[in-house]
Amino acid sequence: MNVLLLGAGGREHAFAWKIKQSKQVDKLYIAPGNSGTQEFGENIKIAATDFPALREFVLSHQVSMVVVGPEDPLVHGVYDYFKSIPELQFVKVIGPSKDAAQLEGSKDFAKKFMVRHGIPTAAYETFTKESLYKGFQFLDSLKSPYVLKADGLAAGKGVLILDSVDEAKRELSVMLGEAKFGGAASKVVVEEFMKGIECSVFVLSDGKNYQLLPNAKDYKRIGEGDTGPNTGGMGAVSPVPFVDDSFMKKVKERIIQPTIDGLRKDNLVYKGFIYFGLMNCQGEPRVVEYNCRMGDPETEVVLPRIKSDLIELFEVLEIEGLDKKKIEIDERAAATVVMVSGGYPENYRKDIVIHGVQDIADSIVFHAGAKYEDTRLLTNGGRVLAVTSFGNGIQDAVNTSYKSIEKIFFDDMYFRKDIGFDV
Ligand code: AMP
Ligand code: GLY
Repeated sequence: MNVLLLGAGGREHAFAWKIKQSKQVDKLYIAPGNSGTQEFGENIKIAATDFPALREFVLSHQVSMVVVGPEDPLVHGVYDYFKSIPELQFVKVIGPSKDAAQLEGSKDFAKKFMVRHGIPTAAYETFTKESLYKGFQFLDSLKSPYVLKADGLAAGKGVLILDSVDEAKRELSVMLGEAKFGGAASKVVVEEFMKGIECSVFVLSDGKNYQLLPNAKDYKRIGEGDTGPNTGGMGAVSPVPFVDDSFMKKVKERIIQPTIDGLRKDNLVYKGFIYFGLMNCQGEPRVVEYNCRMGDPETEVVLPRIKSDLIELFEVLEIEGLDKKKIEIDERAAATVVMVSGGYPENYRKDIVIHGVQDIADSIVFHAGAKYEDTRLLTNGGRVLAVTSFGNGIQDAVNTSYKSIEKIFFDDMYFRKDIGFDV
């Protein structure tokens, strides 16, 4: 079968690498892809959100499965778009429907969903410009620190955590008043701060059944010791040592199963990955956020640990046949270290020559923001490479990635030297 993968980051390089290993796949296309994905398929110059162009391509290239990497096309309804066109109805789209993708697309929707289905999460209220004063009162009723979340997609930049209540009130006014997050904040969720340690649990669901994937922990802050501004992710490890059987039992019973059942009760069609961002609050799991796709850079440690054929799992989503499948997981640990361009997550340069990637033998180098110009590999984004390794335990895997990184060089490169430090 021919498969079309949507997206252009390190996550999509990892997907392309894994999909190409499937015996079921003849041709793999990636829209738009990057310098890494082109090793496993053909990059095509179509944006992941250009639905009419994708439709033309799928029809003219006999594509029978579309795997969606990022959230944007999902939140904008790529699943529904394909299902609404008679000639494309039989194309399998791996991802949730537009309504279901609101679990990520709207923080308010996600919170309401969790409350409705009794899923543990932080106490919250949602405010608009009109209810700003009520927002101040709610902030007064909470303890420091204060969590403010722009309702819509904000590329990971819509969350503020503030120590002083006056600052929180000021920011709430700004978010609601000035549409600070590009319109994302016509509503703002204000919620209780949850103290604990974060981890991510992933499942693949057909809307009725689910299969658990390897769990992971990502490192979002730019600085060592989890300091400084948030980024798209500076590294990840899998599995997370504190996610033991007893914790997982609670996650399954209190969070995953009620989510799957809730989707069904609410008639939300879901044929894809669910990312549960969790807080371990003294052994009790609570949901920080849902994402309607895999994480980046978590995918770069999760997919290498899946031994099963991913496409064979995707194929049964439409018929709700996941309960008849088994996922085989590699027992080894995996770690990825993200190399970024100096200045990221603020201003950074592009088009810097990257040396040494071809010399790496002990790690897999996933390209995030990179491109080829003739035969030279150049940086093309803030997050440039994700260097993934296996190991006997997290520390071993992390060390192998650091050894590989010694052979890679580009001007102004930066990476955190403490990935996995807290586990
Ligand atoms: P989100 O986009 O909802 O994942 O929020 C981004 C990050 O902010 C999360 O990964 C957490 O580190 C932090 N965060 C969000 N909500 C809370 C909360 N209620 N309590 C503590 N930390 C939070
Ligand atoms: N690594 C966090 C995310 O993909 O949202």
